[in-house]
Amino acid sequence: MEQVKTRWYKDAVVYQIYPRSFCDSDGDGIGDIRGIISKLDYLQALGITAVWLSPCYKSPNADNGYDISDYRDIMTEFGTLEDWKEMIAGMHSRGIRLIMDLVVNHTSDEHEWFKQSRSGKDNPYRDYYFWRKGRGPKGKRPPNNWTSRFGGSAWTYDETTQEWYLHLFNKKQPDLNWDNPKVRQEVADICRYWLDLGVDGFRCDVITYISKNILPDGTMPDGKFNIAICGDEHFTHGPHIHEYLHTLNKDVLSHYDSMTVGEAQGVTIAEGLDYTDEAREELDTVFQFEHMEIDSIGNLLPCRWKLPKLKSIFTRWQLGLYGKSWNSLYYENHDQPRALGRFTGDYGALHYEAAAMLAISTHFQQGTPYVYQGEEIGMTNYPFQSLDEMDDVLVKTIRSMPIFKMLPFHDRILLSVMRKRARDHARTLMQWSDEPNAGFTTAEKGWFVVNPNYTEINVDKALNDPNSLFYFYQKLIGLRRDKVIAPILRGGTYNLYYPKHKDLYVYTRSYRGELLLVVCNFKNKEVPFTVPNDIAFNEAELVISSYRDTLPLGNRTLRPYEAFVYKLK
Ligand code: GLC
Repeated sequence: MEQVKTRWYKDAVVYQIYPRSFCDSDGDGIGDIRGIISKLDYLQALGITAVWLSPCYKSPNADNGYDISDYRDIMTEFGTLEDWKEMIAGMHSRGIRLIMDLVVNHTSDEHEWFKQSRSGKDNPYRDYYFWRKGRGPKGKRPPNNWTSRFGGSAWTYDETTQEWYLHLFNKKQPDLNWDNPKVRQEVADICRYWLDLGVDGFRCDVITYISKNILPDGTMPDGKFNIAICGDEHFTHGPHIHEYLHTLNKDVLSHYDSMTVGEAQGVTIAEGLDYTDEAREELDTVFQFEHMEIDSIGNLLPCRWKLPKLKSIFTRWQLGLYGKSWNSLYYENHDQPRALGRFTGDYGALHYEAAAMLAISTHFQQGTPYVYQGEEIGMTNYPFQSLDEMDDVLVKTIRSMPIFKMLPFHDRILLSVMRKRARDHARTLMQWSDEPNAGFTTAEKGWFVVNPNYTEINVDKALNDPNSLFYFYQKLIGLRRDKVIAPILRGGTYNLYYPKHKDLYVYTRSYRGELLLVVCNFKNKEVPFTVPNDIAFNEAELVISSYRDTLPLGNRTLRPYEAFVYKLK
């Protein structure tokens, strides 16, 4: 039955679950679907209204589920389709929608399509992927110079047919050929399958890469250090991408009350609008990455960042999409180190204040906020002491490259980079309690490390303390249902104050005579603050604050990480 598009995501707060690390119900050390089911009351209490579930499909786990071998079934370690059905029913009965990860730029090399494709040049599945002859007299050099996002060539030679196949990620993640209409049909069918089972949308993995201008060499990056850039111009926002997404939207997505959010690393505002302008009917929203890139060079080497730059990025996106499309608001996900420390500097004893300040800085912007598992209790980066403790395929690939091994002190350098940048920081086990393994599993050990701070930072403790970060988040998320605040969050215009201020982020949202004033001190020090002179503040009403005791609004010195929101007339 045809469903009416309600654009429900504009009032939603989405919670991301990385299932492998969320909760283990059967004692094998790996998170699973029944573990999620056991935590649905917790999610409901937090108040979130949608879940983005990282991949839970059948997968040999070369990249923890981002390499799918069967799009219509559940990963054995995670449970069964029946469990999944119980999970989605449990979500829906609690008013929580479900967004599934849609990983269709590539499959696993263990997917039946690839097995067929690799078996012979005349196989009907051959053109589901990109196969090419190698260069050089014996064809032993890759067809072009494109590099994989995980390092090394983007091509792997296959003995069976003596040709090379393309993989923009790991060699166990061959890229699908979207120029083949049968591939597009398969993707449409997969979407329909899950939508008919009741899912409410998709987070579209690396969606900007699906259309490729195949084969020309990429220009080498001029002087810029980036391990994974060559060829970008031929596969990012490729020649047919808008046509393919528009068709998927018209043929499938538009018939359901669903939402899409596309992962779009490197996207500019103009490009973001090309994907999400409502009139174009492609995706609903994208994840832009500009603010994720301010503290590194070439997406890898850590560097210092400055608050005016972060504010200018937020502000450009706020103004750029206003009235045309819709932002996604986030600091964390499974590919990013934790935000605490990263965006706050050393917070010392002010764990709560720093975490609450960060949340305030984004949740009042226009867009859909995403909370990554553990962010609501202030989980932090893991103190990695060795590369051997890391699981990420990216780290393993870099370490296996001959050129890397030739660098002096290679492991020591990589460890110092990864201690700041590793995706593994976000994948440590969810901290449920101060029991062994943080209550994540009853096995002797979980599949991955647990942060030693779990005895202090855990859900049990947070739930038992009315002043905890959990209850701060609960209140913050609850504002999306507040009759007065929600309309301002949804429709209010955005205005930045003091753009050059290096410590404070100050902005307003205004809607039909109501004004929200948002003030955030990003630093672990006292900072003087003056209420902007065009704001009358005699009828100020406090909405939320990062301090438990709040001083009245006025010109005064802000405490370290003090952040607050006032509603004004
Ligand atoms: C996306 C995912 C990431 C994965 C990659 C390849 O960036 O978020 O975790 O490694 O795609 O699928």
